[in-house]
Amino acid sequence: MSRRRLIAANWKMHPPPPGWDTDDSPYRPRKDMDVVIFPTFLDVRECREKGLITGAQCGRPEESGAFTGDVSMAELSAHGCRYVLCGHSERRRHHGETDAVVLEQARAAEAAGLIPVVCIGETEDERTGKRTEEVLRRQLHGVMASVIAYEPVWAIGSGKAAGPDQAQQVHAFLRSLLPEEVRESTRIIYGGSVKSGNAGAFLREPDIDGLLIGGASIDPQEFQGIIEAAIAKAGA
Ligand code: PGA
Repeated sequence: MSRRRLIAANWKMHPPPPGWDTDDSPYRPRKDMDVVIFPTFLDVRECREKGLITGAQCGRPEESGAFTGDVSMAELSAHGCRYVLCGHSERRRHHGETDAVVLEQARAAEAAGLIPVVCIGETEDERTGKRTEEVLRRQLHGVMASVIAYEPVWAIGSGKAAGPDQAQQVHAFLRSLLPEEVRESTRIIYGGSVKSGNAGAFLREPDIDGLLIGGASIDPQEFQGIIEAAIAKAGA
């Protein structure tokens, strides 16, 4: 089955990069793949108004209530977000988001009409302790999201990306864990030190359906290079 490619830019706590809103910016939507931008909450509206496909970096499952500083999935959806990251490792680390919370977020996101991108990945210690599969199995348990992002924690922001063949092996393992009815349709994207120079190699792998890009996504030239790599792959 051919799955539509997804190239996701996670701007984290950075302002929109220079030229992001120009007509020829690499952040614009495309016919041949989904290009989705994850800006801060404050920048969501402007990105959307300028025509970008926009997602939020996190969201809270409850509809409303006494949750200072949080934004509900329902409100994200009402404000034009189409996607939401659930359980990014920085949220797990800095905000104590557990697997159970992430699962609740993903369910609430779907119920609100958003596409959850559920982020999972092992730490360096877990990898060297040969616990990668055990950890991923636990993190994926019960998740029925249409997009899963495999982001090994040791590869995020470190400049040490996983090898494309190593990532492919993990993606194939993750796919094998998915319920049969969604196994072929679920998009599994890779994140962790993706740059223009290695994007094409990841996208050549059969179970890597797209990329989640942090650092390189706030550099318009780098991001342009990643989009070009994805176009070349789409035409290959
Ligand atoms: P990175 O971040 O591309 O800077 O490694 C990826 C992410 O955190 O989603």
